[in-house]
Amino acid sequence: MAKQRVLSGIQPSGNLTIGNYLGALRQWVAEQDTYECYFCIVDLHAITLPQDPAALRAKTREVAALYVAAGLDPERVTIFVQSHVSAHAELSWLLTCLTPLGWLYRMTQFKDKSAKQQQESVGAGLLNYPTLMAADILLYQAHAVPVGDDQRQHLEFTRDLAQRFNSMFGETFVIPQAMIPKAGARIMGLDNPTAKMSKSETSDYHAIYLLDTPAVVKKKLMRAVTDSYGEIRFSSDEDRAGVNNLLTIYQALTGQTNDEIEAHFAGRGYGDLKKAVVEQVNDRLQPLQDTYNRLMNEAGYLDRILAQGAERAEAVAEKTLQTVRERMGFVARPV
Ligand code: TYM
Repeated sequence: MAKQRVLSGIQPSGNLTIGNYLGALRQWVAEQDTYECYFCIVDLHAITLPQDPAALRAKTREVAALYVAAGLDPERVTIFVQSHVSAHAELSWLLTCLTPLGWLYRMTQFKDKSAKQQQESVGAGLLNYPTLMAADILLYQAHAVPVGDDQRQHLEFTRDLAQRFNSMFGETFVIPQAMIPKAGARIMGLDNPTAKMSKSETSDYHAIYLLDTPAVVKKKLMRAVTDSYGEIRFSSDEDRAGVNNLLTIYQALTGQTNDEIEAHFAGRGYGDLKKAVVEQVNDRLQPLQDTYNRLMNEAGYLDRILAQGAERAEAVAEKTLQTVRERMGFVARPV
């Protein structure tokens, strides 16, 4: 039987964080043999907020190398840059014309991100962001989409849009499921544990980046906000969010249960917890960084992967797009 498909992506809009790793990348690596996988670097999504061209170019390559460094095997999975496959932009337009504005205005990510901009400078791309994301997923007929918790609403939107298309034009798209990890789906900021850790947040002690040195990781984690309870246990209370976040990072990296972790830290202080998290994070990041540095120094390696990835992705995407064009009534280009 053919394997089911998976598609996911990360925006090259900043330095990848341990949140991106624990919420998304780590799952991708774990699922790469179970599914037929497509992983893109979503540069078209990145430009929904202003990007410096040189930085966008550099980050796109950096993210691609990090995919491989984190453990994705480019022979077994397809790694590609979204803008290299023009079907994404085209399907996005076709779907835009079927998307009710109300669905877009309802998206919490749009509300949050547009609130941070001056009203007149909010780009229409930010509003249409979920439609482009739906196009990414639907082009590959993905069954499952491994993402962090913050993408739940975008996945619901994608499902609604796919259903709408199918009911208007006949069964065309697979209806995708979100695949959200049990531990690590929502890593919080170290400096403010009530806000999601984000690669676009610029304060120094907010996020652990995948390319941070061990000394920097240690400095950031030792400064992480905790509380005055002095008790190490999982909790959903807002005033214990900092300790809960450290425990969550520890759990996502060790795979231990809540009980095992609480027993391990019983009677110990926050300093011990922080040191243990530093050790786990650095143990995980060290081999990833070694591979990353090797890949970036290997001339032509990344280009070969991305060329091969675009070719494989395009073959699948074009096939779906062709069907969509026909169903919607576009005249085929005469040959
Ligand atoms: P982006 O680049 O914001 O995030 C990439 C992935 O990392 C997850 N993530 C987190 N997980 C846990 N804790 C955090 N603090 C955290 N921050 C980010 C995100 O949930 C995501 O899985 N819209 C997507 C990109 C995208 C996409 C797609 C994803 C475009 N097209 C198609 C899946 C399928 C995004 O915002 O990524």
